[in-house]
Amino acid sequence: MRVLLAGGAGYIGSHTAVALVEAGHDAVMLDELSNASATTADRIAQITGTSVPLVVGDAAADAAVVSAFGEHGPFDAIVHLRRSRPSGQSMQMPLQWYANNLRTTWALLRVGLARGSGRFLFSSTGTVYSDPAGTLGPRRVVEARHEAARQCGRRGTLRLRSR
Ligand SMILES: NC(=O)c1ccc[n+]([C@@H]2O[C@H](COP(=O)([O-])OP(=O)(O)OC[C@H]3O[C@@H](n4cnc5c(N)ncnc54)[C@H](O)[C@@H]3O)[C@@H](O)[C@H]2O)c1
Repeated sequence: MRVLLAGGAGYIGSHTAVALVEAGHDAVMLDELSNASATTADRIAQITGTSVPLVVGDAAADAAVVSAFGEHGPFDAIVHLRRSRPSGQSMQMPLQWYANNLRTTWALLRVGLARGSGRFLFSSTGTVYSDPAGTLGPRRVVEARHEAARQCGRRGTLRLRSR
């Protein structure tokens, strides 16, 4: 499988790239390097003995995603790992964070679907520290996750098209 990792030069993305290569897949990173270094690609090559290309660009911009597809596609799957920093700002500016996540998701889906990618995985940490009345408490979060997992394909990826 050939996989595009948006935010792929980050912490989780680079480990995902190594795991994919070691499992016999091809990976390509798309990262604007706001919280990562281009040397990540060198380190992945040292660890795996395989070159994992890095496309530098904003995953929320169609042009950057198109460029990644043009240079290294097609991709069987897209993994959305990009995130904004610092995490604490997600509570101070929640709408800005929702918008950032959605812009990237839309760009990856729009371009990916148009170019035949059939699998999309969105990675996000969901942490609940309390259960205040009227909000989604831990139990409801677990139920929501189970429902999301149920709707995902057997490999844990959401199938974008009915076949
Ligand atoms: N770190 C953890 O322990 C952990 C655990 C589980 C899930 N996650 C989730 O995994 C995802 C990645 O987390 P992380 O810890 O690897 O973060 P990270 O900051 O190390 O990696 C995110 C990457 O996204 C890049 N990026 C930011 N904006 C971008 C944009 N517009 N276009 C392209 N690249 C962009 C950054 O340069 C960075 O390399 C997040 O959704 C996070 O919630 C993290």
